[in-house]
Amino acid sequence: MNSGVMHRPGRHIAAQFAARVRGAPDRQLADRLARAVAAMARIVEEEGLDRDDLRALVAFLTDVGHASDSRRQEWVLLADTLGLTSLIEAQVTRRPAGATPNTIAGPFYRVGAPVKCDGESISIDGIGDPLVLELAVLDLDGDPVAGAAIEVWQANGAGLYENQAPDLQPDQNLRGTYRAGPDGRAIVRTVRPGGYAIPHDGPVGALLARLGLSPDRPAHLHFRISAPGFQTLTTHLFDGDDPALEADPLFAVHPALVTRFAACGDGGFEASHQFVLARAHPGREDA
Ligand SMILES: [Fe+2]
Repeated sequence: MNSGVMHRPGRHIAAQFAARVRGAPDRQLADRLARAVAAMARIVEEEGLDRDDLRALVAFLTDVGHASDSRRQEWVLLADTLGLTSLIEAQVTRRPAGATPNTIAGPFYRVGAPVKCDGESISIDGIGDPLVLELAVLDLDGDPVAGAAIEVWQANGAGLYENQAPDLQPDQNLRGTYRAGPDGRAIVRTVRPGGYAIPHDGPVGALLARLGLSPDRPAHLHFRISAPGFQTLTTHLFDGDDPALEADPLFAVHPALVTRFAACGDGGFEASHQFVLARAHPGREDA
């Protein structure tokens, strides 16, 4: 042991770990864990962590595990609120400049939303402030993507999705699949969505509270837009007037995904937005 080891035990442990897994059968796992151990060692030393810190970390992770079951995934919530989920999504769906950014789909997507005619409403119960969206689906050259399938799903004005509260809303309320016309345009008639809080009655919620972070997501609609020859786009459209816009706990907000719902004379709102699709890599139309 040299004197450097005495001053930098973290570096020594990280080096030992890396050496021990050098011949591991799972090379990728070994490399990633060695990097993780090195990063942890650096943080422990830089922050001067002690036994109480370790006990608190273990207790928190234990609580996260206990809060998770088949209906509730606190670990996913933790990954979401640390930005990991959105970071991975951005990394695996990197789009060229000018294309609309892809975002996480969230847990409320349902396959097979009802087909709607242009201008038809997706609000089955008719409850809420009317909202009309004039959408355009374009390619990177600004040309229309005729016939693009536009799936939309959203929460109602109270911030609830129909599959979250099936007793309170009709089946498939506020979900629909539109088809862009030859000019790439489609008119979606709906109601203005309300923001909602992510589950915050567990250890992740307690963590957010200790950090002074809000669990509130800004109001938004979700879209999934697909067309032959293009990468499928899963994205959000956010209400530009929502004060929660600056601190979305899921890190999905991007300037290109924010719009203003302008008040119209009849008490409703309207907005227009363009989605720009990127060409698919040969043989791939997903992501
Ligand atoms: Fe959502």
